[in-house]
Amino acid sequence: MIRIQQIGALKNALNKERASNKSIGFVPTMGALHEGHLELIRKAVSENDICICSIFVNPIQFNNKEDLEKYPRDLQSDCDKLQKAGCQMVFIPEVSEMYPEPDLAQFDFGQLDKILEGEFRPGHFNGVAIVVKKLFEIVRPDYAYFGEKDFQQLAIINRLVEMEKIPVQIIPCPTIRENDGLAMSSRNMRLTKKERAIAPQIYRSLISIKQSFNGENAAEIIQKTIQNLSKIEGLKVEYLTIVNNKTLLPFDPQNTIKDDSVALIAAFLGNVRLIDNIKLD
Ligand code: PAF
Repeated sequence: MIRIQQIGALKNALNKERASNKSIGFVPTMGALHEGHLELIRKAVSENDICICSIFVNPIQFNNKEDLEKYPRDLQSDCDKLQKAGCQMVFIPEVSEMYPEPDLAQFDFGQLDKILEGEFRPGHFNGVAIVVKKLFEIVRPDYAYFGEKDFQQLAIINRLVEMEKIPVQIIPCPTIRENDGLAMSSRNMRLTKKERAIAPQIYRSLISIKQSFNGENAAEIIQKTIQNLSKIEGLKVEYLTIVNNKTLLPFDPQNTIKDDSVALIAAFLGNVRLIDNIKLD
């Protein structure tokens, strides 16, 4: 696997592959790779001639300084995992390479980046959009792979690609879970033993929503589930909602059918914030 740090060197290497008509599959990450990322890598490897992964902890998408500082970093272990998964290239730029000067772009996603995660993490999706657009311009992938665990991020990326007419096909990939249902996330390693034991309750509550949602009882199920979750010591729900899977606006039986809806949750376990979702089709 080739490791590249400079934009110019990466462009040259990829141009050579493109010249021999090779397809390029791209998996952007912030490192701390787990099975969820590696599934994206394996899919990109199996569907493309060249799989490239980027590892870049993007400072401008963190609205919490402590979160940025505590973000787990282990480059050697990440590279070993990528190599084992069959990835051919990894791009690991420094902050100064990606942002030689501050990027002040402002995207207009309408409501999409103001609700849910956007309400609690102002500026987060603008920072994601800036870096993903930059990475797409550098890598020029045919296909880019994103996990459905970050459901709103995926909606933002789809909107970005549409708005900016970026010639890439976005491939959504299902959430990968631990045996007890907890969605894989780099943040899981920050959970204490006690918090880790409670964490699967988040997905269990989503399954129970899926089982009892009939397309009309959204408000009452949500209220009941929040009530049940609030009884669990150490767990604090930030939001739990059923929304339209395209607009991410609250489920309204007048204009959304049950099959087009998704339940989204964000909850704190101690000071670790976890998100998860389930499609209600
Ligand atoms: O999902 C992530 O890891 C990041 O938000 C992404 C897409 C790599 C952009 O920094």
